[in-house]
Amino acid sequence: MAENIHPIFDSILNRSDKEKLLEQRAIVVWLTGLSGSGKSTIAKGVEHKLYKQGVITKLLDGDNLRTGLNGNLGFSEEDREENIRRVAEVAKLFVNAGIVTLCSFVSPTLKIREQAAQIIGDDFHEVYVKASFETCAERDVKGLYKKALAGEIKNFTGLDAPFEEPEKPYLTIDTNNQSAEESVDALYESIIKLIKPNAHI
Ligand code: ADX
Repeated sequence: MAENIHPIFDSILNRSDKEKLLEQRAIVVWLTGLSGSGKSTIAKGVEHKLYKQGVITKLLDGDNLRTGLNGNLGFSEEDREENIRRVAEVAKLFVNAGIVTLCSFVSPTLKIREQAAQIIGDDFHEVYVKASFETCAERDVKGLYKKALAGEIKNFTGLDAPFEEPEKPYLTIDTNNQSAEESVDALYESIIKLIKPNAHI
């Protein structure tokens, strides 16, 4: 614990002032699933739909954050834990500013997601973007499955690193046999009532 630190939390304008201003209720939507399962595609689609309803959002994405804030981290269990710890802290800052925060991270273990849930608290909404390893390997949008199967990537999730399915997610979106558009609509429909409880959309 840091000494000689004097947080100014109490004197900062509070969250509900900001939510009132933005006419929205802030939540964290945490998308977990294999690489290539559709997390970021769904998050981007939902972000556009929310934007059209006047909702202010922030999208935090593994591939993006790993080029900056988390650029010093790899894919060992320890580094993934640190990756998710930092992301959860950032998500908490955004949600406390009244902003709907969409987090798209493999976040492969129950322990890692439990840590995120604890940091974020009641605002945490876990969404399991479900697609089998085979489906993701077939899509192979980034060409990573080909490399991993050829032994060129170590600790690849679903291959030689674990993925543990969520036990009680807020929502499961099965993308194995569903179009991106259908997946986006399913998530949007499920969260818009939380974000705009009084609107008739
Ligand atoms: S997490 O496990 O720490 O949550 P994160 O979501 O930030 O991972 O990053 C995952 C992304 O990194 C994948 O979508 C993929 O593009 C890339 N990646 C590179 N190496 C790996 C690996 N060994 N396992 C999983 N994803 C990897």
